[in-house]
Amino acid sequence: MNKKESNTTIEKIISKELAKDKVFENPFNQFSLWFDEAKQFETFEPTAAVLSTIDKENHPSARTILLKDVNEKGFVFYTNYGSKKAKELTSNPNASLLFLWKELQRQVRMEGTTKKVSRKESEEYFHSRPRESQIGAWASAQSSVIPDRKSLDDKFEEYRKKLGEDEIPLPDFWGGYILVPNYFEFWQGRPNRLHDRICYKLENNNWKIFRLAP
Ligand SMILES: Cc1cc2nc3c(=O)[nH]c(=O)nc-3n(C[C@H](O)[C@H](O)[C@H](O)COP(=O)(O)O)c2cc1C
Repeated sequence: MNKKESNTTIEKIISKELAKDKVFENPFNQFSLWFDEAKQFETFEPTAAVLSTIDKENHPSARTILLKDVNEKGFVFYTNYGSKKAKELTSNPNASLLFLWKELQRQVRMEGTTKKVSRKESEEYFHSRPRESQIGAWASAQSSVIPDRKSLDDKFEEYRKKLGEDEIPLPDFWGGYILVPNYFEFWQGRPNRLHDRICYKLENNNWKIFRLAP
């Protein structure tokens, strides 16, 4: 598809009204539809999402992560279990994820609780990564203060030698989280700032769907 055809297709996709009776009853299906379109049309990383967490003093913080899996329960990302985000998720598992797909003028927000995925699942993902990324995970105590760039490069070389040519074990301090959502908002840009916002809230195991003013 050339750029002109792609733009025409994007126009067609985003000109449709996002309405309560047109969306899927299950927000996971709605996410899946939009995610597929984002993967087709987004020029920047469509799996990138902003993860927000809260610390013990109720201060929020946000950072980008990459979504690595979506299953019927929730949304999976991987990180260092000693990082700031991980410490915050331990003291308060409530978190949100935000996807911005700007080519499609779309935003998806979700809120829920997080928990660690099984070690087996983390192992499978860890071993699917390039060898250098696996060494990198061993070498970086994410979110701790380090003196300079050289110390990081030295650590990488130290671990490259130490880990040799064998399979690299998953570090105890590294793995996945799953965010299990109880709230979603799908935002579609529309003319005159009259954007569509369709939300889903989990109530007694049912997804209640409603519209918010833009
Ligand atoms: C596009 C992009 C993708 C990223 N993906 C991840 C990721 O999947 N996991 C991760 O731990 N950090 C990822 N990062 C780095 C985080 O944004 C952040 O710097 C790091 O996780 C430390 O955050 P913390 O100190 O709040 O724990 C990514 C950054 C960018 C810009």
